[in-house]
Amino acid sequence: MCGITGYVGSRPAVETAIRNLKRLEYRGYDSAGVAYPAPAGVRIVKAAGKIAQLEASVQDQPMEAQVAIAHTRWATHGSPSQANAHPHPDCRGDLAVVHNGIIENYAELRARLRAAGHQFQSETDTEALAHLIEERLPEGEPTPQIFLEAVRQALREVRGSYAIAVISRFLGNAVVVARKDSPLVIGLGEAENFLASDIPAVMAYTRRVLILEDGDCALIEPDRVTISGLDGRLRTRNALHVDWDDQAAEKGGFPHFMLKEIYEEPRTVRDTLRGRLLADDRVTLPDVGFTAEQWARIRRVSIVACGTAYHAGLVGKRLLEQLLHRPVEAAVASEFRYSDPLVDPETLTLLISQSGETADTLAAMREAKRRGSPTLAIVNVVGSTLAREADAVLYTQAGPEIGVASTKAYLAQLTALTLLALYLAQNAGMPEEDRRRYVAALRALPEQIEACLSLSERIEAISAELAAMSCFFYLGRGYDYATAHEAALKLKEISYIHAEAYAAGEMKHGPLALIEPEVAVIGLCTQPATHEKMVSNLQEVKARQGTVLALLREDVPAPDTADYLIRIPATLDALSPILAMVPLQLLAYYVARQRGCPIDQPRNLAKSVTVE
Ligand code: AGP
Ligand code: GLU
Repeated sequence: MCGITGYVGSRPAVETAIRNLKRLEYRGYDSAGVAYPAPAGVRIVKAAGKIAQLEASVQDQPMEAQVAIAHTRWATHGSPSQANAHPHPDCRGDLAVVHNGIIENYAELRARLRAAGHQFQSETDTEALAHLIEERLPEGEPTPQIFLEAVRQALREVRGSYAIAVISRFLGNAVVVARKDSPLVIGLGEAENFLASDIPAVMAYTRRVLILEDGDCALIEPDRVTISGLDGRLRTRNALHVDWDDQAAEKGGFPHFMLKEIYEEPRTVRDTLRGRLLADDRVTLPDVGFTAEQWARIRRVSIVACGTAYHAGLVGKRLLEQLLHRPVEAAVASEFRYSDPLVDPETLTLLISQSGETADTLAAMREAKRRGSPTLAIVNVVGSTLAREADAVLYTQAGPEIGVASTKAYLAQLTALTLLALYLAQNAGMPEEDRRRYVAALRALPEQIEACLSLSERIEAISAELAAMSCFFYLGRGYDYATAHEAALKLKEISYIHAEAYAAGEMKHGPLALIEPEVAVIGLCTQPATHEKMVSNLQEVKARQGTVLALLREDVPAPDTADYLIRIPATLDALSPILAMVPLQLLAYYVARQRGCPIDQPRNLAKSVTVE
């Protein structure tokens, strides 16, 4: 999820690689490192914290190198630290690897490699790859082609996502790269070549880029790039000319980080599921460090969070109640912490947070711990305070979220909550056919999110007409009422239009008095069981000249009273909030853009609220 750069050519390679790495700083990271050839093999310099710390560390190094690779880490396995920073060497220091992504089967690879005598220096999944390549190298001095084949063999044993770059004393002035599910591009120069996770990092030197595709490996030399598949067969990739300006390049060509992050959501859900669904459709949560006894002792669940994370908790409450058939509480952290909360050693307190640094959520966790309640954090930032202090952690693996308005992290939170609910239900004897139905629906989500993203143009057109509305009501029942809270927050925090979530059945008990043509009512109708009631509620609004948009699943009939219709793919009721939020995020985005709002940094708001 973070940054890789590399260089081969006649410029000072280390300086060039680090300079390009700094073009990826905006993505957020926790540590950085660089590797380059040295007389005894490869030299690795790395530092926790900012790239400036790395630059200070390499300052006094002799650096005539003409090849280098560099990395900024967004930790997924192993807390942020110098030891866990990339690059990672093999035992003999003959090679160094940098990696973006997640190696799902790293634990079994580490165990086998350690049993074979390999010495590990970090807690990361990535380091297993360095030793796996070492294990595949023949004795003696392999040629670059033999080295490349050793990398291909190693990757054939890896499950997960990766963009990697490898240098070695056996490669001379060349770099081996490969990608699967994590992006990697090659910048083409004159008698020099560049590599990076993202186009902005090569644009200072070239606008001719090759975009590698899944399964590609490449040997990058100063005067040529040879691309092949894991099977060794040559592949061709056509160079593109990139005419983005620097601003656009940082956002991958998107006008705002928020839109870029909405379009990352298929990958986000895929990454959050990664390594947690077994081939037999059982759920496994290896990174959650509770023992079987601790899980068995849980009688109740209390969910605590703030903002978007709290809205994920509202969905999680319904989901857990539906699957566990027992009451679940959901509270905003700022209320929970002062409410003399009724949690005890049999209550699992579930803290949800993207940043893991939100003051109210941290205080709520500490209050729950003080009362003997086991705490589980669903958090995105590895090594954050919440992740370090909670009794157990379930990471959302959404990668860095830059836009202040949370989008992909919310979908990752819902996905993680679904995994947790299924895991608890599975342990409590959930019928296999029910579990398989949920897991099949989870596996289908990334493609269904792609289908929701294809509605973007139509939603932009609708937004142009709704942008002048005086206020918005988001109505729903059941899961849709939970979704309505997040949809309303998304709109108001970036467009500054007042928006309110309301239980659809409650409108007639007062708020209907507010309805007039300038009031937009977004009816969320993804739940078949209450669909007809929702249609009636929207008809009550329409009869009073309100402007109505209905959001429906493909498997329910459309109300004839709506001014606008948006349809999303059919899925389980409990997973509909994940799909429904994609068009609702796009609606908020395009309304805010229509109103000329500064979308990525809305007024008065911060990405992480670390004060009460
Ligand atoms: C949501 O778009 C906002 N950025 C805000 O409500 C946020 O969700 C809230 O501050 C909680 O942040 P956390 O998930 O990092 O704890
Ligand atoms: N999974 C690797 C780690 O935790 C790479 C993380 C990244 O993509 O930066 O070190």
